[in-house]
Amino acid sequence: MNPKSPLSLGFHIGGGVRTCDRLARHAKLSRITLIEGDCNSALDQILAAVPPNYLTVAFIDPTGLHIHFNTIRRLVHSRKVDLLMTIQFGMGIRMNLPQYINAEKEVLTAFLGNSDWRDDTEAGGSMSQICRRILDRYMTQLQRLGYQTFKEDEISVRTDQNNLLLYSIVLASRNKLAEHYWREVTKIRASGQRRLL
Ligand SMILES: C[S@@+](CC[C@H](N)C(=O)[O-])C[C@H]1O[C@@H](n2cnc3c(N)ncnc32)[C@H](O)[C@@H]1O
Repeated sequence: MNPKSPLSLGFHIGGGVRTCDRLARHAKLSRITLIEGDCNSALDQILAAVPPNYLTVAFIDPTGLHIHFNTIRRLVHSRKVDLLMTIQFGMGIRMNLPQYINAEKEVLTAFLGNSDWRDDTEAGGSMSQICRRILDRYMTQLQRLGYQTFKEDEISVRTDQNNLLLYSIVLASRNKLAEHYWREVTKIRASGQRRLL
């Protein structure tokens, strides 16, 4: 974004027909660029549309492990991009892990950017422990791109019935100020309770 204007441009990539229809009727449509399609294959179009010198926030909110790590790597290369992401721990990783191990190996490999996650499954332990290692590995991948991630402070969304982690909302940034903003916005929990520290 242009720092002189709080929201100079918005980009929306992907999304179902309903989302695109809704955005097409948005009051600020003239300031929104809609790019339909899979962001992994539309990346060149996205990079051409986002000025490389803008401060950018990418809100990455898929329902599974659809966004390849290589897409993230290319998206942030030589650009100032903060990443606000939902990581689908429950439905994306935990529920499908047996499939990923046995048949659909390339899904996790594309999500994490390499196949080192195999070490996490071979190290044993409970399903939760294995998935947690995979999530930690994702954070490490972001750190390798120069990002500070807020794993300890991540907002975790859990199921009501058995307190299973569904997904995490994570902020990753190369700028130290991001931690301050993250702490400010996560001070008050969804329940309304204020964090102590
Ligand atoms: C949870 S919804 C996002 C909701 C959105 N944040 C909103 O507030 O309306 C997930 C969206 O991610 C989109 N999506 C999933 N994989 C994608 C991909 N590879 N490229 C682009 N969009 C994708 C889906 O089409 C879906 O609309």
